[in-house]
Amino acid sequence: MHDTHYNKFYVTTPIYYVTARPHLGSLYSTLLADVVARWNILQGKQVFFLTGTDEHGQKVAEAAHKANKLPQEFVDSFIHAYKEVWYNYEIAYTHFIRTTDEYHVKAVQKWIARLIVTGDIYKGYYKGWYCTPDETFVTEKDSEVDSSVAPACPSCGRLTVMVQEETYFFKLSAYQDKLLKFYEEHPDFIVPKERAHEVVNFVKAGLKDFSISRTTVTWGIPFPDDAHHVTYVWADALNNYITGIGYGQPGREHEFNSWWPADLHILGKDIVRFHAIYWPAFLMASGLALPKQLLVHGWIKVGDQKMSKSLGNVVDPEVLFKKYGPEPVRYYLVKQMAITHDGEFSIGDLEQKIESDLANDLGNLLNRMVSLAHKNDVIELPAIHEWSERSLELRDESWNMTQEFEGYMEDYLFHMALARLWKTINKTNAYFHEQEPWKLAKTDRARFIEILSATCHSLKTIAVLLWPVMPKKMEQLLHSLGLSTLLTNNTLKNLELNSWGQHFMLHKIPNLFEKPEPKEEVVVVAPAQPEQPQVPEIGIEDFIKALLIIGTVEQAEEVPGSDKLLKLQVNFGPLGMRQILSGVKKSYQPTDLIGKQGVFVTNLKPRKMMGFESHGMMLFAVHDNKQTFVTIAGVVPNGTKVQ
Ligand code: ME8
Ligand code: MG
Repeated sequence: MHDTHYNKFYVTTPIYYVTARPHLGSLYSTLLADVVARWNILQGKQVFFLTGTDEHGQKVAEAAHKANKLPQEFVDSFIHAYKEVWYNYEIAYTHFIRTTDEYHVKAVQKWIARLIVTGDIYKGYYKGWYCTPDETFVTEKDSEVDSSVAPACPSCGRLTVMVQEETYFFKLSAYQDKLLKFYEEHPDFIVPKERAHEVVNFVKAGLKDFSISRTTVTWGIPFPDDAHHVTYVWADALNNYITGIGYGQPGREHEFNSWWPADLHILGKDIVRFHAIYWPAFLMASGLALPKQLLVHGWIKVGDQKMSKSLGNVVDPEVLFKKYGPEPVRYYLVKQMAITHDGEFSIGDLEQKIESDLANDLGNLLNRMVSLAHKNDVIELPAIHEWSERSLELRDESWNMTQEFEGYMEDYLFHMALARLWKTINKTNAYFHEQEPWKLAKTDRARFIEILSATCHSLKTIAVLLWPVMPKKMEQLLHSLGLSTLLTNNTLKNLELNSWGQHFMLHKIPNLFEKPEPKEEVVVVAPAQPEQPQVPEIGIEDFIKALLIIGTVEQAEEVPGSDKLLKLQVNFGPLGMRQILSGVKKSYQPTDLIGKQGVFVTNLKPRKMMGFESHGMMLFAVHDNKQTFVTIAGVVPNGTKVQ
């Protein structure tokens, strides 16, 4: 291993398509990356953890169009939600990359320019049957392209035409043998191994050059010197793993070289080919080292279907966060899902795990131990030098578990690591109970202290090992034992060497975990994004029916008993004064509006609200529930018509 890399770890998540808020599936990959990052921090390594959003391409452009927004405006509207969910779930990423970030765009253009020079990207023609009304090529397989009869478009049924389109290709065919050799020399490249077979078979079946530019899509990174071609979204997105740490950015070469190659890319099995074939080929073409490992996980399912934005069966992590807090959800996802398999999400399982594993097994153990100590006036536990046989057994259990836990973590078998650790929790519970320390408190003070201390030692190991999964809770646990929560370079090493000579100060803390309230309904299946009402198209003849007039607000006051309405007196010049009620109390004070010129609809049927008549409507732009009144760029006489 390269020297400068020895003490470093670079981990990534997929960058998510921003067509909706993050869902439980996006959280899952990001959470695994966080667990891996923290596990490496425990080992004293410097960690770079990259996540972000994939913002270009047809899919995003179409979603933006449906939402009646410009693509940039559309993608911008989701970023806060991503960052907020990651923050709430204690995802400690180093950098959040957006593919619309300028440094990324420029670096991808440089990358393309470089590969054009080496001949790995070249201009050619894409030939295929094209559905003109749908603006799409309908054939993917050569056999179909070669057919002499025009096939019908699978989506609209109309006849297709043969079209040749100018496009840039990536010379994937040149990398088939190199890739196969690489897989052979790096049998651990893809974890788990089952996924590796699929990839190897796919490559063996033959690789063809593939198109990496589009002229039918405009929302993407323009090709350098040939701007009517935009970069195919995957050629853009995969590069985030290098641009995010400085590739192609003057002045960041050293930083890039210190982090690349990535130690681990985490991804779902839906995108394994892109990461195991295209990406390594791109890197070979660029003369860059290949990532060390891909961790490919299965899907979270709901009722046997993949949870996905396109199916709309997604669980909103924010709902779970509000109801259960972040760490129980983190624990559940890591424990419930075997990395090698798909797993079913269920609220019932989540609640059951919180109750049994977290509240009963772990939380109660700490709680009972500290309460018993305090009840018997014990706050401080001195270091113990002579342990009884039974305590030594517990110590061995703790040591063995630590070894095995580390083994599972190194293999990314997180659920196994947790299952092993829970055995120790249960053994510690059994130890505590069998010894009946509450009886010894008065009769054998030394034994009493020993049992408390052994329990504390075991809990300390548990807290440190569980820290990557539940950081805040485990810091609280350590605090309750009077231990520093400052994790140092040697935290894990010290644990392995742990000689059970620790001194503790016991603090009572609130219950670590609350049992979920029974019977409270949680609605978890939420639409991927707020329902976009289907707005019908209207003709100009409909639009001109609305009379839009400029007026100045002369008076504004609150409406008694209403927390929404303001009552405005509006001057429309030659058209006179009018009373207009407006539901803007949450965004404006009455005095904010007085003297302001705005745009009003004046031919609405009069409406009575809270006892007052309203003769029109003031126009507002509404963003994030906040209203901003519509105004005009210059001053015009009141009563002027807007058209
Ligand atoms: O594919 N269970 O983005 P995406 C588990 N932009 N993980 C899931 C999941 C589920 N039900 N649903 C999604 C893209 N994921 C591209 C990636 S990377 C250079 C570009 C996770 O928003 C899983 O990691 O469709 C999956 O691979 C990823 O989200 C796909 O996210
Ligand atoms: Mg997807």
